[in-house]
Amino acid sequence: MQTWEAITSRRNVRSFDGRPIPPADLDRILETGRRSPSSQNWQPWDFIVVTDRDQLRELAGVWRGAGHVAGSAATIVVIGPAADNEFGRAQLDLGQATMAMMLAAADLGIGSCHAGVADLGLARELLGFPEDRDWAFLISLGYPADRPLVSPCPWSGNVAWHVTDPRR
Ligand SMILES: Cc1cc2nc3c(=O)[nH]c(=O)nc-3n(C[C@H](O)[C@H](O)[C@H](O)COP(=O)(O)O)c2cc1C
Repeated sequence: MQTWEAITSRRNVRSFDGRPIPPADLDRILETGRRSPSSQNWQPWDFIVVTDRDQLRELAGVWRGAGHVAGSAATIVVIGPAADNEFGRAQLDLGQATMAMMLAAADLGIGSCHAGVADLGLARELLGFPEDRDWAFLISLGYPADRPLVSPCPWSGNVAWHVTDPRR
């Protein structure tokens, strides 16, 4: 798949068909995160990969919008540092790493979905990350159960550009 196809076929997928993701593909997705740009190249992230079904089910309880994690083939937990600066650079860095990993997944035909973490205590208890990491979010991964990732067909109709000059 070409970059443009990965960009246009990526969508948030919340139901997965149960097939496991080959380890080499998971490695590629994680390597994509690791190679993402970050402020002053400080690479403030940690990634924890969860593939055990019971752990995935428990992890789904960290936020009411994280139900899709339970049925994922794997979920990457992206962990953020307590120390940041006034620009919130870690948030941008982790956001970029997240999007890069989701595109790498789409490139492999793997669907993905974000989820926030409201119950950080539960996430910490399940995964054991240290106190100096105090925020996290989730990327569930798996092969889409509903329809494959496909680039939308090009429009067949004409496209009209209507430009309004606000000075008139
Ligand atoms: C910062 C962020 C947090 C999100 N949190 C959740 C979430 O907790 N649960 C969820 O199901 N989707 C979550 N999403 C996915 C958005 O709902 C989704 O990207 C949006 O509906 C657009 O759909 P699309 O990505 O398929 O185009 C989140 C997306 C972002 C960027």
